[in-house]
Amino acid sequence: MSPVAAHLAQLIHREGPITFDRFMEVALYGEGGFFATGHGAGRSGRDFVTSPEVGPLFGACAARALDRLWRALDEPDPFLVVEAGAGNGRLAREVLRAAPACLPALRYVLVERSAALRAEQRERLALEPADEALGPFVRRTNEDEAVPALSAGPVFTALEELPALSANGTVVIANELLDNLPFGIAQWDGRRWLEVRVGLRGPDRFEEVLVPTDADLGYSVPPGTRVPIPRGMEEWWRACDGVVQHGFVLVIDYATAMAELGSRPWLRTYRAHAIGTDPLDAPGEQDITADVVLEQLDTTAPFPRVRTDRQADWLRALGIDELVDEGRRTWEAGAERGDIEALAGRSRATEAAALTDPGGLGAHCVLLFGAGGAGGAFTW
Ligand SMILES: C[S@@+](CC[C@H](N)C(=O)[O-])C[C@H]1O[C@@H](n2cnc3c(N)ncnc32)[C@H](O)[C@@H]1O
Repeated sequence: MSPVAAHLAQLIHREGPITFDRFMEVALYGEGGFFATGHGAGRSGRDFVTSPEVGPLFGACAARALDRLWRALDEPDPFLVVEAGAGNGRLAREVLRAAPACLPALRYVLVERSAALRAEQRERLALEPADEALGPFVRRTNEDEAVPALSAGPVFTALEELPALSANGTVVIANELLDNLPFGIAQWDGRRWLEVRVGLRGPDRFEEVLVPTDADLGYSVPPGTRVPIPRGMEEWWRACDGVVQHGFVLVIDYATAMAELGSRPWLRTYRAHAIGTDPLDAPGEQDITADVVLEQLDTTAPFPRVRTDRQADWLRALGIDELVDEGRRTWEAGAERGDIEALAGRSRATEAAALTDPGGLGAHCVLLFGAGGAGGAFTW
């Protein structure tokens, strides 16, 4: 029996059938869990491709997005950017390479639960100790309060969880994080809500047990419809509220409306670039993920949603076509040499096609939340 299955079986023996979010927490993030062992986004040897893993172009566009948000916040220095669910650090590295205008002010915090993935970040980026993320500090006189030094960026640092920091002008960015936050599962039977719990069918075989729940999910859906109970999302937003007093939270993910849940398979598993099996199978060996439900995102978020775009439109607004043309010119100028820069220029067209594919990554939702009054009339 795998250590993850053994841990889950022990929990169920001790407490009886557990909620699905507890099962997911252990299967993905517990010792030996899917992300804890370094599985996740990437190409060969990994499990699924996210936008940053398509190539450097997504990071170049994200760097432009950060500049636009920085300007909308009146160019704070330091400019605190927190990347939540930063995985192996690929997005952060490409943002740095794209050299956005905000770079001298930038303090970039990569937040990643998996120690294995945080170790990979160190191979991609020079990471500073966390207490320097908002420093170095200077004092004008001995009596003065310490204030952050200006233009001391970029500084990159990594943490396991969202920091309790407050800076004037902060952006939290989360690409494909919210779909991985543990959720319970409820089912409407026409009269009341039932919750899916996970029990044992054999020593290491898990099965669903439906139990009545008092939770009033407050949605009207056809009988038989299952909906996620966004417990992990609630907790994540609470932590976000402690980071962003004035600024933005940029969530990029696959999202859906509550009304669509009954007609689409919103809970999925992945491993080794293929669809996995039942979510209760082989815990720790496959990803468990769900569409983010827009209504739940809005009711759990402490800030208003100020913009909603499809990824394809967002990338076009940020100038992806212009970056592709620039790449083509670099390729044409350096084709005979075939050097790395020229080849990277040529690959931009393929990357852009994948990132804007309406049947794939291009359909992701880009959701911007404004905290402390930020972003009322913001456009990309
Ligand atoms: C689907 S991966 C996306 C990684 C990366 N953002 C990308 O787009 O390639 C989700 C990542 O979020 C991490 N994660 C999940 N919950 C987290 C949390 N509460 N805080 C920080 N990281 C978390 C996982 O360990 C995993 O590396």
